[in-house]
Amino acid sequence: MALRRILNERTDAAALRRKSRPVDIINNHIRTLLDDMAETLYDADGVGLAAPQVGVLRRVALVDVSEDRTGLIELINPEILEREGEQSDLEGCLSFTDLNGTVVRPQRVRVRHQDRDGAWQELSAEGYLARAVCHELDHLDGVLFVDLATDLFHPSERADLKKEA
Ligand code: NI
Repeated sequence: MALRRILNERTDAAALRRKSRPVDIINNHIRTLLDDMAETLYDADGVGLAAPQVGVLRRVALVDVSEDRTGLIELINPEILEREGEQSDLEGCLSFTDLNGTVVRPQRVRVRHQDRDGAWQELSAEGYLARAVCHELDHLDGVLFVDLATDLFHPSERADLKKEA
């Protein structure tokens, strides 16, 4: 495994704004990408990371909202099937090191995705996990949390911040 550089909005805005392409064949190249992304996510102490954030324009993302970092979910070619309810909370992003904001997200989502063996899976996510999944899926379409935020502020202005995705 290897750490990948996380693109930053200040220097890599154009790349972060591009739409990622589906993964046609889930091979060892993709599995290495997943492994490297997980290492990079944990190194950065984040809750989610999307492939375009490490400069790979493919529909691949990870989330792990667990405290003990054992809840990794790998999402390949994810699609949201259903959204339900609404939640408003603070959000950050590993590609924005000094910016946070309030974002309204669905309370629950149901997502269809492939796993690292190519099998299709369904994920039902709620609360913070639903938020993290929506944030990462947006990255695959070049949508960033600042586009959706109802307010933006520097992390030092607030003490109640969560980890970044
Ligand atoms: Ni992000």
